[in-house]
Amino acid sequence: MHNIDSINHVKGESVYIDDIPQQEGTLYGLVFDSTIAHGKIKKLDFREALMLPGVIKIFSAKDIPGNNQLGAIIQDEPLFAEKEVHFVGQAIALIVAENELIARKAKQLISIEFEELPVITDERKAYEKKQFIFPPRTFKLGNTGKAFANCDYLIEGTVKSGAQEHLYIETQGAYVVPVENGCLKVYSSTQGPTSVQKIVAGVLGVAMHKIEVDVRRLGGGFGGKEDQATPLAAMAALAAYLLNKPVKLIYHRFDDIRMTGKRHPYSSDYKIGLDKDLKIIAFEVDYLQNAGAAADLSPAIMERTLFHSTNCYFIPNVRAKAYSCKTNLPPNTAYRGFGAPQAMFVIESAIAKAAETIGVDTQKIQETNLLNENDEFPYGQIAKDVKSMPSWLQLNDKEGFTEIKEEISLFNKQHGHLKQGMALMPIAFGISFTNTSMNQARALVHIYQDGSIGISTGAIEMGQGVNTKLTQVAAKVFSVNEKRIKLETTNTSRVANTSPTAASSGADLNGKALEIACNALLGRLIISASEILGVEKSEISILNEKVLVINKTVGLEWEELVLKTYLKRINLSEKGHYYTPVIHFDKTKEKGHPFAYHVYGTALVKATVDCIRGTYALEKVNIVHDFGKSINKDIDKGQIEGALLQGIGWVTMEEILYDEKGILMSNALSSYKVPDIFSVPKEVNIELLETEGTDMAIMKSKAIGEPPFMYGIAAYFAIQDAIKAYNPNYKLKFDAPITYEKVLLGLYEGE
Ligand code: MTE
Ligand code: HPA
Ligand code: MOS
Repeated sequence: MHNIDSINHVKGESVYIDDIPQQEGTLYGLVFDSTIAHGKIKKLDFREALMLPGVIKIFSAKDIPGNNQLGAIIQDEPLFAEKEVHFVGQAIALIVAENELIARKAKQLISIEFEELPVITDERKAYEKKQFIFPPRTFKLGNTGKAFANCDYLIEGTVKSGAQEHLYIETQGAYVVPVENGCLKVYSSTQGPTSVQKIVAGVLGVAMHKIEVDVRRLGGGFGGKEDQATPLAAMAALAAYLLNKPVKLIYHRFDDIRMTGKRHPYSSDYKIGLDKDLKIIAFEVDYLQNAGAAADLSPAIMERTLFHSTNCYFIPNVRAKAYSCKTNLPPNTAYRGFGAPQAMFVIESAIAKAAETIGVDTQKIQETNLLNENDEFPYGQIAKDVKSMPSWLQLNDKEGFTEIKEEISLFNKQHGHLKQGMALMPIAFGISFTNTSMNQARALVHIYQDGSIGISTGAIEMGQGVNTKLTQVAAKVFSVNEKRIKLETTNTSRVANTSPTAASSGADLNGKALEIACNALLGRLIISASEILGVEKSEISILNEKVLVINKTVGLEWEELVLKTYLKRINLSEKGHYYTPVIHFDKTKEKGHPFAYHVYGTALVKATVDCIRGTYALEKVNIVHDFGKSINKDIDKGQIEGALLQGIGWVTMEEILYDEKGILMSNALSSYKVPDIFSVPKEVNIELLETEGTDMAIMKSKAIGEPPFMYGIAAYFAIQDAIKAYNPNYKLKFDAPITYEKVLLGLYEGE
């Protein structure tokens, strides 16, 4: 089935926040934000700005009727700064004007004075000063201390990975319309409508039922709108509530990049021990997470880092400890992979360094330590339906690793200033919110009297195709044409208490809830048909919109059945509720069974480096991926391609730089390079691993959104493999991204 949005996307008719027709009298909001990264607000004067014709009002902390608080996990982030600012881009006030131009002029007229305080942007500096957002956590398996004593090889090192801008095409935005009795309708470009509802209610000091959040779709979220769409909705809601006027607030790209958090940079120290057979016996790691100035989702992200410290390898002795370091950057936030890419980059770096030190192929160590059935993860879950070795072997079958290496070696002999290299990246990614209670969802299904169907769930469509998959689920259960089905907006008044669409679990959780609701309705329709036809209900089924009795058509079709059922006064609406069974986690022991299942796969990346210029190109990516039984291969392949590219961008060219005062230097697409059509791999081959899937996934179709991001990590090592072919003195680096500049320096180091 085609993505249900594809035609409107191509025609430009799909509706985003800025396309919603504005009500008469709509006002425009603009955030007045901090220009310094740390300091005390000494003076704040709006008088001149307020005199500008067309400026309606300027709101700040003192205007908030409820709580000046955005923090969902830890209450440490004000909506508007009061006495101090902690990062550049922190909101101080909201200017509300008749239009944008006036608001921008007014912004220039606000006068503010700061007393500057010391700025820390680096996680290691924050760590040394013991500036933590919350206490560290440690995951343990076996006894690393004892195990290190029995290792033949001990390798230590440091690994860094950088931030990453989400660059959703639709920037953050909200449009808030007052309804009546102090109620608001909030259109928000958010992955988490319930979070928006709850925080808006808290800021206004009203009950949640007064706030209706409605989301048609997002022009991308990638995690950046799991939490950070909320402040815009809250500011617009505050103004709309107090002025009783519709208010629109949409960030321009410059403001969005400057003011919002990114993927967390990490600095990590590790020690890895192997025996003479290259079995990894022990692994210790300290992760320093750069959280920025407030918690946001950092606790959950740090937790997922710990869960993925060993990627898809079995290591019998592990001690992984993580610290969330407080710096003067915008609070960093969810980004595809949610802390797992940072963890996997460390273990892959440790393996690569071990291979370099011992003098063996990295692939040899990877393969020797792949996870097997019934191996224990450091957090206590026993690995089941493990597909590490099968995906590794199938990838090797497709194009032998040895042959590719020989090809590369031949190419390198024949070329003086072009060198090639390759690397492999096997992955295991846990599916479920690591916070068990979030793994629940609801769906609401109406069958209308004409046989058409309307569906509401808690899932947010952000380009990943969840609405298409949900349409397929309903079409399959009812056995009706997809054209009969309409996906309604995601709306907190229709489906309440939603978890954000995140953790790659949107289709699983909402799809399962939908399946439950559809099955209940189907059961009712079958009973109704048995009454109409006077046969046993066990003899009835519905296939392609026709009622069958013992597999034979009888002239009763979907539309007639629905209408007759309605006339019998039978309920044609149903709500489904799903929660993931089995999962649990005990934080006091740091043990449990947090994931419904894991997604596996392996990628091979082949790169070519231009050894005069330091530039590189990716020749080829081969992937064998565990889809389970994919319900939509086109969408799932699209998800792999997109995630892979984002992963490649993160480890190769996307470089976020702040200066020592905490000012973002890579603040636009001219100074922040993302993969484009010229930097995509020349070839991307995606093969599916034949597997049974799992009943924990929607119709056995495994979650797809995030896991393939981490295939991109192979690009980092493939490029360095090519550098080594040119410069035998080159020592592997573990500091992503590996930009052209770093490659050029590496090609000529040690000469
Ligand atoms: N794909 C597109 N096109 N746009 C997005 O914003 N977000 C990713 C992934 N794929 C995203 C995307 C992230 S971070 C997640 S968690 C999942 O989609 C969420 O959707 P799902 O749970 O339905 O897979
Ligand atoms: N993944 C993604 N988003 C989340 C999670 C998670 O595990 N927990 C809370 N938000
Ligand atoms: Mo995705 S980072 O879980 O929104």
